[in-house]
Amino acid sequence: MAQKMLSDISGEWNISDASLGTEELAHLEMVATIVHQLTCNLSMEEIEKSGFANYYVDHTTGIWPQAAGGIPFNACEFQSKGDPLTDLFEDLAAEQKARSTYDNILRLVKDPEVADPIRFLRAREIVHFQRFGDALRSVQDSLDSRNYYAFNPSFDCPASCNPSDT
Ligand SMILES: [Fe+2]
Repeated sequence: MAQKMLSDISGEWNISDASLGTEELAHLEMVATIVHQLTCNLSMEEIEKSGFANYYVDHTTGIWPQAAGGIPFNACEFQSKGDPLTDLFEDLAAEQKARSTYDNILRLVKDPEVADPIRFLRAREIVHFQRFGDALRSVQDSLDSRNYYAFNPSFDCPASCNPSDT
């Protein structure tokens, strides 16, 4: 979302050479594959002892995206306000939340077949954060210094705080 809005502002800016959204979906595929590999051959006893029983009752061992706390994934996970500043700060926060989640997983998991891909995903979130930071700087460079964070630059432009302009 932010990527499109940024291109609206600059006419040429892009978050990266590759599609960040496509990469994020590939990350979901990696995590789903890890979950499938960890759960597909569980015995009933392992399911009961591992705390997986509630999930198993609802979904067997199928992949059904949800937070670690059990909150199901839904479209609310995709935040979009239609304001490049708001959306980029949201994107930056999302990347750090993902990195923190991977850090928490890595504190719990020592199996290299799980930890190594998680370390890769963690590294990518850091890169994403840096690219969104670049994007934020690009947007900030095009803002009027007198109305920093005071207007939606993609909707209220040309915004001005100068009373003589109104
Ligand atoms: Fe990311």
